[in-house]
Amino acid sequence: MSAYIIKTNNVSKKFKKAYAIKNLSMSVRKNSVYGLLGPNGAGKSTLLKMITGIIRPTSGQILFDDHPWTRKDLRNIGSLIESPPLYENLTAFENLKVRATLLGIETDKCNDVLQRMDLMHTKNKKASEFSLGMKQRLGIALALLGSPKLLLLDEPTNGLDPFGIEELRQMIRTFAASGISVIVSSHILSEVQQVADDIGIIYNGSLLYQDEVDANDDLEQLFMDIVRREREA
Ligand SMILES: Nc1ncnc2c1ncn2[C@@H]1O[C@H](COP(=O)(O)OP(=O)(O)O)[C@@H](O)[C@H]1O
Ligand SMILES: [Mg+2]
Repeated sequence: MSAYIIKTNNVSKKFKKAYAIKNLSMSVRKNSVYGLLGPNGAGKSTLLKMITGIIRPTSGQILFDDHPWTRKDLRNIGSLIESPPLYENLTAFENLKVRATLLGIETDKCNDVLQRMDLMHTKNKKASEFSLGMKQRLGIALALLGSPKLLLLDEPTNGLDPFGIEELRQMIRTFAASGISVIVSSHILSEVQQVADDIGIIYNGSLLYQDEVDANDDLEQLFMDIVRREREA
C-alpha cells in the first residue's frame, strides 16, 4: 500500500497560451495535513481543481492512492474549492439532505457531519442567515458527507475572524487524526504552519519547495528566500 494519498507527476495545465501549472510533482502523505502555500495567482486553485476533476491536466499524471486518478476516485474525495455551493433559501440540514439524496447517502449522515462541524444548533436555520464562518463550515460538512479519504480545502479561512480560524484549525487536525488526509491551501503562511504536517510552496505554477514543517521554522523567511531565488534565476 502506498504511503501517499495523492502524487502528481509532472502535471501541467495550460490555459490558452499561458501555463497556470508547470511540471508540478507533489506528494501528499496519508493521514496528514498538507499545506499548499502561495500568493494569489500562484496556481493553488488550478491544482486542486485538477485533483477533483473540475479541469483536466494538459499533461502529466495524478495518482490517487497509488493508481492513476479516475472519476471513480471522486467517491473518496471531498472538496471545498473557492466558495461553498449552498442553496441560500434552504436550511443547513436541507442543504445536506439534497446532497445526501443525490449521492444515495442515509439521512443520519447529515446529522453526523452537522455535529462534526459544530452546526447542530443551527440545523434549521436558512443558509442565507449564516455568517461567513458558518457557511464555510457547512461547506466542509457537505464535503464530508461522502466519508472521503481526502479532503481539499481551498483557502478555507478567507473571511473568517481569528476565532473562526482557530476553530477551523482544530477541526482540520481532527480530520487527519480520524484518517482523512487534508490538503489546505492558503496565501497566509503563519496560518498553515500551525496546522500542516508538510508544506508545499507554489509560485508561478511551480512547486518550489516541499518538506515537513515544524513550529520553529521561519516560514516567512523560507518563503522570501525561495521566491527571491526563483526571481533571480
Ligand atoms: N479558467 C481559466 N482560464 C484562464 N486562466 C486561468 C483560469 N483559471 C486560472 N487561470 C490563471 O491561472 C493562474 C493561477 O490561478 P489560480 O489557480 O486561481 O491561482 P491561486 O488559486 O493560487 O490564486 C492565474 O494566472 C489565473 O489567472
Ligand atoms: Mg485560488
